[in-house]
Amino acid sequence: MIGTLALASGKGGVGKTVLAVSLGHALARAGARVLLIDADLGLANVDVQLGLVEDRHLGRALAERRPLAEMVVRDEATGLALLLGPSGWRSLAQLEGEALERLAGEIEALSRGYDATLLDLPAGIGSRTLRLARLARRVLLVATPEPTALTDAYALLKVGLKDHPGLGLVVNMAEDRADGASAARTLATTARRFLDRELPVLGIVRRDPRVPDAIARQRPLLARHPTAPAAADMEELARSLLAEERGCRPAT
Ligand SMILES: Nc1ncnc2c1ncn2[C@@H]1O[C@H](COP(=O)(O)OP(=O)(O)OP(=O)(O)O)[C@@H](O)[C@H]1O
Ligand SMILES: [Mg+2]
Repeated sequence: MIGTLALASGKGGVGKTVLAVSLGHALARAGARVLLIDADLGLANVDVQLGLVEDRHLGRALAERRPLAEMVVRDEATGLALLLGPSGWRSLAQLEGEALERLAGEIEALSRGYDATLLDLPAGIGSRTLRLARLARRVLLVATPEPTALTDAYALLKVGLKDHPGLGLVVNMAEDRADGASAARTLATTARRFLDRELPVLGIVRRDPRVPDAIARQRPLLARHPTAPAAADMEELARSLLAEERGCRPAT
């Protein structure tokens, strides 16, 4: 049981969705039953990255008060069960209070039917992001080495994630491992100093032109470019999450 993994970021466009899809794909290949939830209530993008056109999505479940399970679709290319997001449904992006609590409870119940649930959260420090992050056993805080992405990751940490017991950092779009490690050190040092919080690094993913290529073609990265360095890095992250769940260190 890998449980629920949430992907969060302060700044948008740092690669949460492509990471969520690729991690889910890798976990599904390893035999796990994986549910990916596009929880970007308002601006969905899992469907776009996978080239899917579906009328079943989270927005409909909420609008028509139908069980979430009825809106889960299967993606053949990745083997993922998907609860797609409701793009452009403004009222859902403003979900709060009791309605947000109900949704959180339904997501929790739905995820019990899977070995792993990936929650692709909206970027930023919004209350919905923070509430849904609490559902996760592990929160993958995604940032790039850019100063703005690191600053925004720190802001998210400070306002909402610093007390999460399963928090870890993923640096995406690193020029190389050293660049990623240096960005991780910068953020971890600041978190330790000002928030008294350790921030373990869960993974470093290199910048790779095959990522935008796969997205432009609306194909999963691991299928379109299985030997790309970024794909290898994402697979390594998936392996370490699996190894952690089995209570051992990842095989290298
Ligand atoms: N490792 C990488 N190398 C090169 N480009 C990347 C990499 N990861 C992501 N990208 C590019 O960054 C862009 C944003 O990725 P993605 O949509 O997954 O980010 P996001 O964090 O989900 O964004 P949003 O906050 O808008 O939901 C994509 O166009 C993608 O091609
Ligand atoms: Mg996204």
